[in-house]
Amino acid sequence: MKERNSFLKQEIDYKSPNRNIVPVTTSIGNDGKLSVGGCSIEELVKKYDSPLYILDEITLRNSCRAYKKALEKYYPGKSLPIYASKANSSIFMSRLIASEGLGLDAVSEGELLTAIKGGVPNQNIVFHGNNKSDKEIEFAVRNKIEVIVDNDYDLERLEEISNSFNSDLEIMIRFTPGIECHTHEYIKTGSFDSKFGFGIEYLNILFDRISNTKHLKLKGLHAHIGSQIFELEPHNDLGEIMVNVILDAKKFGHDIQKLNVGGGLGIKYTENDDPPSIDEWVKTISASVVKACKKNNLDLPILMCEPGRSIVSTAGITIYKIGAFKEIPGIRTYLSVDGGMSDNPRPITYQSNYSACLVQNPFNINSRNKYTIAGKHCESGDVLFKEIELANCKTGDLICVFGTGAYNNSMSSNYNRIPRPAALLVCNGEAEIIQKRERPLDLLKYDVLPDRFIKQN
Ligand code: LLP
Repeated sequence: MKERNSFLKQEIDYKSPNRNIVPVTTSIGNDGKLSVGGCSIEELVKKYDSPLYILDEITLRNSCRAYKKALEKYYPGKSLPIYASKANSSIFMSRLIASEGLGLDAVSEGELLTAIKGGVPNQNIVFHGNNKSDKEIEFAVRNKIEVIVDNDYDLERLEEISNSFNSDLEIMIRFTPGIECHTHEYIKTGSFDSKFGFGIEYLNILFDRISNTKHLKLKGLHAHIGSQIFELEPHNDLGEIMVNVILDAKKFGHDIQKLNVGGGLGIKYTENDDPPSIDEWVKTISASVVKACKKNNLDLPILMCEPGRSIVSTAGITIYKIGAFKEIPGIRTYLSVDGGMSDNPRPITYQSNYSACLVQNPFNINSRNKYTIAGKHCESGDVLFKEIELANCKTGDLICVFGTGAYNNSMSSNYNRIPRPAALLVCNGEAEIIQKRERPLDLLKYDVLPDRFIKQN
């Protein structure tokens, strides 16, 4: 019997794309080759070269709609899902997010500009960061973008800037709720030992401090407990903790109208992953906020959440071309591709696992063909897959890696002066460029040779 790539046979969950490994439009053409968004991947690579990032529009829109729909269904008050643009920031992503009526979370002037340029209304953008510069804060204030205050220094700067503008400023504060979750150490943020946010034990002092400012008006609370989380319990606990903080703030005369519960819902990178659906996640957090408000006779605040990965990750794939093979008898066979840690730093940073298949022969695998897929960078750790079974393949064949829409392009680098891949959007058989391929010459653009070195030749 032929061995099969089982993840490609899984039933697609159209409503909650984070529960699939592949984009919802993935199919195998009559020629037996992989296609996404109605486009043959082999043809796309012929036209646009590799490595290539591809985003599937329908998967993206289904994910946005799942958050909106679930909030409308489970949360009786006003709500706004906000896309965490650090997951994948571009003018295109901003435009798509705006067209779906979501807000956007930015953490730098660059992400803010991208959001504005993409058409996200300023009142739907929030500005985060544990070390915002004065220039960035002023940019946000001038553009009437809501700032989420992260620490004392941030507050000091905002106070001074609001005084200098002599105008009131609505702020939210970020705090660490002291919730532990099971995820990689680097992407946990809700425990007490985190660089982000005020410690929960410090909030009463903070509320008093804000009361004594002339122009700062505390309107919202924010907490984000971590990323790639599969449990629902932490978010169930979070609602009650945040509502209790609203009550504490009230004692100092602050009228909290918004609760932002952060992001964090995980996605299915491999068959071992089993994340809850977007619907279940929103239901859990909504129920916990509603229950705690009822218990304390509080009006429901506006509920905001900040999904990043679960909006964009499953919509994204990366295509590589196979180059060199190196067999070390009795140990392993390295198969090298034309990208690696510069377009996907997650395996080397977090030991992340992905699923992949051959574009020209997606279904079949041969368990005797175990490969280590290596990137092309000068770094032994530049390995995308430690061990993967693939059908027989050769130099020039294409590999598709799934689940690369989040934190790949946005965390990419030019290590070894390797240009970033192009990114395409696919939908209904059409492919359009959303990010041009960098060229080696582009990478020299910011290099400057001091005059005396020019003269020296
Ligand atoms: N809100 C805040 C304040 C955040 O810090 C983050 C992620 C999010 C929302 C979105 O979380 P998500 O829904 O994507 O889990 N580079 C890492 C992930 C870092 C997450 C940083 N903060 C990775 O590649 O896994």
